Amino acid sequence: MDYLRIQGPSRLSGTIDIEGAKNAALPALAASLLTEEPLDLLRLPNVRDIATMRKLLSHLGVDSDECEDGVRLMPAGVSQVDDAPYELVKTMRASVLVLGPLLARLGHARVSLPGGCAIGVRPIDQHLAGLEALGASVLLEHGYVTVTARKLQGARFRFSLPTVTGTENLLMAACLARGTTVLENCAREPEIRDLADLLSKMGARIRGAGGNRIEIEGVDRLGSARHTVLADRIETGTYLLAGALTQGDVTVQGVEPADLASLLEKLGECGCHVDASESEIRVAPGGVLRARDVVTAPHPGFPTDLQAQYVALMTQADGSSTICETVFENRFQHVPELRRMGADIEVDGSFARVHGRSALSAARVMATDLRASASLVLAALVAQGETTIERIYHLDRGYARMEKKLQTLGARVERVSASS
Ligand code: UD1
Repeated sequence: MDYLRIQGPSRLSGTIDIEGAKNAALPALAASLLTEEPLDLLRLPNVRDIATMRKLLSHLGVDSDECEDGVRLMPAGVSQVDDAPYELVKTMRASVLVLGPLLARLGHARVSLPGGCAIGVRPIDQHLAGLEALGASVLLEHGYVTVTARKLQGARFRFSLPTVTGTENLLMAACLARGTTVLENCAREPEIRDLADLLSKMGARIRGAGGNRIEIEGVDRLGSARHTVLADRIETGTYLLAGALTQGDVTVQGVEPADLASLLEKLGECGCHVDASESEIRVAPGGVLRARDVVTAPHPGFPTDLQAQYVALMTQADGSSTICETVFENRFQHVPELRRMGADIEVDGSFARVHGRSALSAARVMATDLRASASLVLAALVAQGETTIERIYHLDRGYARMEKKLQTLGARVERVSASS
């Protein structure tokens, strides 16, 4: 297993490009199941979750090839296989995104239940209730969910809570349903808007994506399209937080600042100097870093996927802050590892109280999930000495060439491969 060696402290400075969003690319890939025609997806990030989804699609009969700037998916072969096996689903919960499109295209689908996950229980009851509302029958058996419907029927469905992949699954299924579907209390993450843009290019009729009420008028078939995936706001936020944490001067380009308004506002409150233009954001020191509370919430609130990295920032802020995690239970797994580096943090249920500023010292730490790993990398950048971070396969699920990008910004980071 590869690990990272990071020599701290360092002060980041420079400019980097941001990748396409993993969480937009995953549903875009799954959308290929809705058509028989080729789909060209550009700006797919080179991360492990994307490779896993391509493997799953290949298992389901979707061939894919590299094309200029991206990947061409050729789904003509989707007809017989309708199952997403446990071996693939267990490594990536987002595999559940094939459920809606497979059902809509083939009339049946069988997907392994994602089961428990490092950051909470994460059920899929809302995905299933929504598909039932469209006329599907649902059977849970032997760890698999099987959904069947001869032809989906448009309907009105209200999510009991906003779910990102749940909204995406229903949105995709409803595109091929008979009649009109109205989805209420939808998640409003920008990745849903991006998926709707792609589906519209394929011929779908969608109104309101990105808002909490989406209306979809079903069509008989969807066709080919070419689509560039939107910028990864979580990768963007991670590098901005790394810049702020190291009192550095970091510019990220190829981004959509409006999608990160809650983070940019918070960085400003903390005393950072933030400059955003049409497609660039720069963070630079603005004086003493101040402690500020954060409550995570569905978009447009503060993203739960940036909470761990923000906790790392708060260890270097002047004063105490309270971080409240409202989206997932059990999402403070980075805290024990940060404590081993000298951070002063108490956790009580969904609250973490961070007392800054702590002088962090290098340690041997272990990544536990994707974003928790990123927070350890950030902490290592300001810790005195050499930190080793193990199990970085978690990091590789969602960050492309992270050590290279950090090196560009002046960090002393090295990936040590298992074989060396
Ligand atoms: C997506 C993102 C993930 C992010 C999360 C919240 C992708 C591939 N992943 O995950 O990075 O952290 O949104 O922004 O886009 N829930 C239910 N029943 C359901 C579905 C969800 O109770 O049927 C709960 C979950 O347990 C969680 C909350 O709803 O507490 C939000 O989860 P959800 O938005 O579904 O997260 P994902 O779509 O899995």
